[in-house]
Amino acid sequence: MMHDVENDPGNPQDRVVSGDGAGQEPRAPGGAGAPRSRDYIHPVSIGDVHLTNNLMLAPMAGYTNVAFRLIAKEVGGCGLVATEMVAAIGRETRGQTERFRVLTRNLPQERPIAMQVYGREPELCAETAAALEKAGADIIDLNCGCPVKKAKQSGCGVALMREPEHVGRIVKAMVAATSRPVTVKMRLGYDAQNRTMLEVAQASVENGALALCVHARTGESKHGVPVDLSGLAEVRRATPARIPVFANGSMDTAAAIRAAKDEAGADGYMIGRAACGDPWLFRNLMAELSGGKRYQPSISERRALLARHFDLILDLYGEERGVRVMRKYAFFYCNGLPGVRKFRGDFCRLASRDDFARATDAFFGQLERGEITGEAEHVTLVEDESEAGS
Ligand SMILES: Cc1cc2nc3c(=O)[nH]c(=O)nc-3n(C[C@H](O)[C@H](O)[C@H](O)COP(=O)(O)O)c2cc1C
Repeated sequence: MMHDVENDPGNPQDRVVSGDGAGQEPRAPGGAGAPRSRDYIHPVSIGDVHLTNNLMLAPMAGYTNVAFRLIAKEVGGCGLVATEMVAAIGRETRGQTERFRVLTRNLPQERPIAMQVYGREPELCAETAAALEKAGADIIDLNCGCPVKKAKQSGCGVALMREPEHVGRIVKAMVAATSRPVTVKMRLGYDAQNRTMLEVAQASVENGALALCVHARTGESKHGVPVDLSGLAEVRRATPARIPVFANGSMDTAAAIRAAKDEAGADGYMIGRAACGDPWLFRNLMAELSGGKRYQPSISERRALLARHFDLILDLYGEERGVRVMRKYAFFYCNGLPGVRKFRGDFCRLASRDDFARATDAFFGQLERGEITGEAEHVTLVEDESEAGS
């Protein structure tokens, strides 16, 4: 039985007349007079943080660094961006790591920003939450979804879905340690036999979490498995209306967003893989969902944005590491163009800034001159590439 959004009197967010926060006219789907509860894109608040729209860039280890977040914000206009997970390790270790600094580096233009804690010891998670607040987090999230082996073995990430009470303890400690709103990113359960989303949602909210994001799959489901909106709907129904529930998992088309709203009552949508190389996606979804048209960036726009992204990455990581980071990323800007698989191969061998410039010149030059023809080619980001994800 699907959640009946129309008849749900509870959620004030559903009644907000929506703008997209990106300069487009608000328009109710279905034309004038359509019920407001059917508005898909609207502002949303998480505690004292007000988001201009309810589209969010997902945390992705190795991808959602400050460079990409800034681009997602500037080009896509998403309402919230998130850092990748930050391990809850001791203060001494954390203080010494360059990693903490790089992971949490942020810019005023990308705010509001959520930063994510990955761990299981309440004290360490609390201490990390306080450090993230100091580093500039507007919202602090707890990772209860990472499905990689290491997470499962250490009782972190999705393994926490097996311990709802413990999640409650972690959330309580984090809430006590920070003045920022604490949120929880979860799955439907550890696996199909252990669907604990309601228990985890309840423990989180009872201990002070102010929003939930539900990746609507269990821990053993691969990304290709369709999301289970009935599980998301159960969480929405069981959670107080004042707590926004974000939908995650292949929310990258207008149809997917409509389904998450219409069938599960989602208050917002978190997008990960599909935004890589396509920061226009957020703006396009907002346009489509308000009756407008998709914007198709030209080849030269893609090229210019890739170059900007690379510059930001160089600034963040320096040349040696920056080139390595871009190796796995750059070809996403060419997704859907002919020849992208070959381009991907070229990129994997790059070692310097000059190599990068030569390869992009060659590829985009050939494309612009019509020398690369053939079918559109698509590449997909898989979690295993970074040994992370939730
Ligand atoms: C490469 C990669 C890294 C990820 N890293 C994180 C992470 O650090 N924290 C987290 O909560 N989820 C992480 N995820 C999961 C995403 O946030 C998201 O839940 C998942 O990709 C499903 O959303 P999508 O279908 O829009 O990609 C990662 C996913 C991928 C593919």
